[in-house]
Amino acid sequence: MKALILIGSPRRDGNSAALAQAVKKGLIEAGHETRFIFADDAVAGFLRDCRQCRRADGECGIEDGFRATFLEDFLPADGFIVATPVYWYGMSAQLKAFFDRMFCYVAASHPQSSLVVEQMTGKRIGLLLSSEETFPTVAAGIVHQLQEYSRYTRSTFAGTVHGYGNARGDLGRDPHRPLASAEQFGRDFFTRHATDYQIDTPRPGRVWGECTTA
Ligand SMILES: Cc1cc2nc3c(=O)[nH]c(=O)nc-3n(C[C@H](O)[C@H](O)[C@H](O)COP(=O)(O)O)c2cc1C
Repeated sequence: MKALILIGSPRRDGNSAALAQAVKKGLIEAGHETRFIFADDAVAGFLRDCRQCRRADGECGIEDGFRATFLEDFLPADGFIVATPVYWYGMSAQLKAFFDRMFCYVAASHPQSSLVVEQMTGKRIGLLLSSEETFPTVAAGIVHQLQEYSRYTRSTFAGTVHGYGNARGDLGRDPHRPLASAEQFGRDFFTRHATDYQIDTPRPGRVWGECTTA
């Protein structure tokens, strides 16, 4: 399988990048193909008013690396994992801009919007978080956004790994061992149990199968 790892932090050696490296290790161990990209290497500017800047051929008029990353790395991937620091209880602006810029290609005025929409659906999605604060809802807004994005694109939200730290390298000292969790998350990213039932979804009853221990 192909997995894109998209990092939202500007820090190349920061905590989100450490989580992303760990998830990459796990994905590779499980035999998957990975692409490792910092959002701000692809995105140099925000979404603009498409009516003002869309080219005559319907393509996005913003000249940066987003088009290549979106078409060649994001769309062909079977799944993507975003790694972001918590900034003001949301995701980083770099990562948010990456999501916003997709709009130009999904909009009906883009010549390949139908194909883009088709390729945006049915992915596995993962979230790696780094924050200073530990209270349970510090990243609730980000988790909620990814869950809604997953629902909207008929994708599967496979889960979250959250590490606590501030200075570079802090996550390596987090006693909850988020880097080990991220590595494991990478190993089973495409196979781990992830459910979002609807009322008429056929269910197995047991979540984990037969119990073998008391
Ligand atoms: C602009 C900014 C806003 C932040 N906002 C929060 C916040 O709301 N809650 C929190 O727990 N940490 C916050 N932090 C701390 C970062 O989430 C934390 O340092 C994180 O580990 C940085 O990850 P990185 O090394 O990948 O950049 C903020 C940091 C910055 C620079």
